[in-house]
Amino acid sequence: MIKRIGVLTTGGDSPGTNAVIRAIGKSSQSQGIQLIGFQDGFSGMADDHFLELESSYFSGIITKGGTLLGTNRDLPNKVLVDGNCVDLTAEIVNIYNKHELNCLICLGGGGAQESARILMEAGLNMITIPVTIDNDIPHTDASVGFDSAMQTAAEAIDRLHSTAISHHRIIIVEIMGRETGWLTLGAGIAGGADVILIPEIPYDFKKISEAIFQRSRSGKRFSLIAVSEGAISLDSVLFFQKARKTSERLHTGQAENEIAQKLELIEKKAAGDTLHLAHQLEKMTSLVTRVTILGYVQRGGTPSARDRLLATRLGTACVNFIIQGNFGVMTAISEGKIEAVPIADVAGKVKSIPLDHAWLHAARQVGTCLGN
Ligand code: F6P
Repeated sequence: MIKRIGVLTTGGDSPGTNAVIRAIGKSSQSQGIQLIGFQDGFSGMADDHFLELESSYFSGIITKGGTLLGTNRDLPNKVLVDGNCVDLTAEIVNIYNKHELNCLICLGGGGAQESARILMEAGLNMITIPVTIDNDIPHTDASVGFDSAMQTAAEAIDRLHSTAISHHRIIIVEIMGRETGWLTLGAGIAGGADVILIPEIPYDFKKISEAIFQRSRSGKRFSLIAVSEGAISLDSVLFFQKARKTSERLHTGQAENEIAQKLELIEKKAAGDTLHLAHQLEKMTSLVTRVTILGYVQRGGTPSARDRLLATRLGTACVNFIIQGNFGVMTAISEGKIEAVPIADVAGKVKSIPLDHAWLHAARQVGTCLGN
C-alpha cells in the first residue's frame, strides 16, 4: 500500500517542471497518497529541506516556468559542500526512511537518471521523469521543456533574421546543447537558419564560407547561423585525435592517463568557441559578423501547450506506475504511448542525433549547410 512519496528536481530547470509537479500532486492526492517535495535537489534533501505538498501548491502553476522546489546539479554522491565534493548518499537514504517514503520521484535530465541509479543501488524505490530542454535522454521521444525552449530559440532566430537582412551581416546565434544538437537543429530548421552547426557533425570553416559565398552570388547578402554551444570544428577534432595518438606513443601508464584526461578537458573547451567561429567567418567572407548567445532565456518562461500536455501525461502515469509497484523505471513516451523504461537502460547514456535522422535530411533538402 502506497502512503507517502517524495519528489525533487535536479539539474537545469525546464519550462513545464511545475506542470509535472502539479500532475504528480493532483493524481497522488486523488489516490490518498501524501506527497513530500524536497527543496533544492539532493543537497536540500540531505539537509531535510522539504514541503508537505498540499493542494494549494498545485493551483495556478501549470503555466509557471522554473520549479517551485528549486534545483541544483548535485548528484547524491557528489554534493558540493563548502567547495568540496561530498558523498551524501547515506544521509539521503536516512531522510527517505525518516519520512517513511514508498518511492522517490526524480525530475530532470541525464543527472536525474544517474542519481536515481545511485539511490536504487543504495536500496531506494526510485522513479524518474525526463525533464530537460536538451531532449537528450534515450528511450523517450520527448522530454518536458524541449518544445518550449525550441519555440523560444526559433522566435529569437526570427528576430535576428530581420536585423541580419537590414545590415547585410552574418548573425550567429548560439543555442544550448553541450553534447547534442536537438535544440539547435529543431529551432534552426523552424527559424529557417542558413547554416546549422551541431556537436554531432564537426564543422569545416571552408564549407560554411562556401555556403555563404553561394548565398551572396544568388543576391542574399546576409546569413543566419544557428550553432550549438557544444559544436566543434573539424580542425579541432583532427588536432585532438593526433595529440592523443602522439601521447599514446610517447607515454605509458599514469602519464598517459593524465595527458588523456587533460586533452579531454581542453577539447571540451575548444568546443563551443562561438566567438572564434565568428572571427574566422568574418575573416574568410569579409562580411560583418555578430554573435548572440541565447543562454538561459531558453530555460525560462511559460511552458508551451505541448509541454504542459506531456508534463500532465508523464506526471500522472508516473503515479500509476508507483501504485502498481513498478519502481526503478523512467516514465517515457514512445510513439505517443507511455512506457516504463528501466533506469539502468538510460543512466549514463546520451541520445545524440543519429546522422541519418529525418530532421537532418529535411534540413539538407531545403539547402541548409550543416557545416560538412
Ligand atoms: O538544462 C540543460 C542545459 O540547458 C544545457 O543545454 C546547458 O549546457 C546547461 O544546461 C547549462 O546549465 P548550467 O549553467 O545551469 O549548469
